[in-house]
Amino acid sequence: MSIRPYIVGNWKMHGTRAMLAEARAIDRAAERLLKVEVALAPPFTLIHATRKEANLIAIGAQDVHPADGGAHTGDVSAAMVKDAGAGFTIVGHSERRADHQETDAIVKEKADAAIDAGMNVIVCVGETEAERDSGKAEDVVTGQLAGSLPTGEAVVEKVTVAYEPVWAIGTGRTPTVEDIGAMHRKIREKLVSIYGEEGASVRILYGGSVKPENAAELLAADEVGGALVGGASLTAESFLGIIMASAEAQEEKS
Ligand code: PGA
Repeated sequence: MSIRPYIVGNWKMHGTRAMLAEARAIDRAAERLLKVEVALAPPFTLIHATRKEANLIAIGAQDVHPADGGAHTGDVSAAMVKDAGAGFTIVGHSERRADHQETDAIVKEKADAAIDAGMNVIVCVGETEAERDSGKAEDVVTGQLAGSLPTGEAVVEKVTVAYEPVWAIGTGRTPTVEDIGAMHRKIREKLVSIYGEEGASVRILYGGSVKPENAAELLAADEVGGALVGGASLTAESFLGIIMASAEAQEEKS
């Protein structure tokens, strides 16, 4: 298991070619920060160009369609994003689950399709505020894991989990370090029950309002192996602030 923190930027529906300069700056700086594994998930339209800018960092997609190809206007398959230069894809982001009615079963199909195409996957899970307030957060998250994670042979090393409480995404609010640690321990337990011993080595990222100012604290929580970062990954300056903070948090942990 890599002990390097894994910091992934999710650009969501942001970015035209003007943003390639940010990707280039992130990649160049990552060359000096080898204690951290850095990745970017730009929109589909920038995957190829971003891949060309990046010497070191991994480039991924934010979603894929479960089918290999066919009559699915506007959709993009795993083989297509791989061909464009993506080495991984995010699946099951809460914005996809909410905006496109993606169920756990669909998320699993997408994860399976990406792995079949030779990619790694970041499977997102997370509870809503109402679910947390009613004491159901852990059940919701473990249920999502059971339904969304790929389960074929030799998939474990290709899987990363991202825990992103829906109420913390883009809001500036975050759970306490204790709550993050508690949820990540629960996720670890579930990963081991699904994958056996190998589940102990799956990386679990935290996502939701991670910023340079709070990254070190959030990344120091139990079982947090990195971060999935939205808004603060859009400029090299703030994303590099998070990468540097995570390098420091890692030093303190070890
Ligand atoms: P945020 O988004 O960092 O802007 O809260 C995180 C995510 O949705 O991946």
